[in-house]
Amino acid sequence: MKVQVYDEASQIGKAAAMLIAAKIITNPRCVLGLATGSTPLPTYASLVEFYDKGILDFSTIRTFNLDEYVGVSRSHEQSYYRFMFDNLFSKININPDNVQLPNPISANPEDDCEPYDAAIEAAGGIDLQLLGIGNNGHIAFNEPCGVFPFGTHIVDLTESTVEANKRFFDSIEDVPKKAITMGVGSIMKAREIIIIATGKAKAEAVWSMINGEVNPVCPASVLRLHAKVTAFLDREAASLL
Ligand code: F6R
Repeated sequence: MKVQVYDEASQIGKAAAMLIAAKIITNPRCVLGLATGSTPLPTYASLVEFYDKGILDFSTIRTFNLDEYVGVSRSHEQSYYRFMFDNLFSKININPDNVQLPNPISANPEDDCEPYDAAIEAAGGIDLQLLGIGNNGHIAFNEPCGVFPFGTHIVDLTESTVEANKRFFDSIEDVPKKAITMGVGSIMKAREIIIIATGKAKAEAVWSMINGEVNPVCPASVLRLHAKVTAFLDREAASLL
């Protein structure tokens, strides 16, 4: 894993966006894996800036998002679907038909998992996956547990994740307790991965990812087994290294 530490969180957004931009320029039909959350916002803002300056054309790329809440409609202001349109897709020339997020709409949301992995495979797999990291070391919504879950699956969010996400909802009762998420296997199949982390709250998880054992207790630690991962960190997130 290549680790790059920056003084400012805003520099991480630009660095990650430049890597994504290089991928799009060299392969205009590339498949990107995208994340939601606070950390990628500066990355998406930089991509929009590149688009506004005429540097990037998104018209032929395809995207797959990592995860989505179960029981939250796409129109809900906290759905990840809405997040992606509000912060990126509505601001660039991406074809909405080329955008996919897991969509747990079946009576049994488990039924929506396998088709998502199949759609990624059918698109030729993910060329570049963007990840954030949870305070507890989760990637996507693969929470700390006994085994690395392989494919897309339904997950019960841990107390720590529900707590971290409550800032987006009126009360903790409103925070969804279940999500659909790409598995660790789906993520590890990506040809290249960028993981971004900012702020003190991520310092322990970042330490475990880089220095701890490769263990599903810190799901992000699995990334050390991938041949092409770059971690972009600010000084606070890197403070325990
Ligand atoms: C979101 C996702 C999560 C977040 C993580 C960090 O799609 O997959 O793993 O990346 O929870 O979230 P922020 O960036 O809000 O700290």
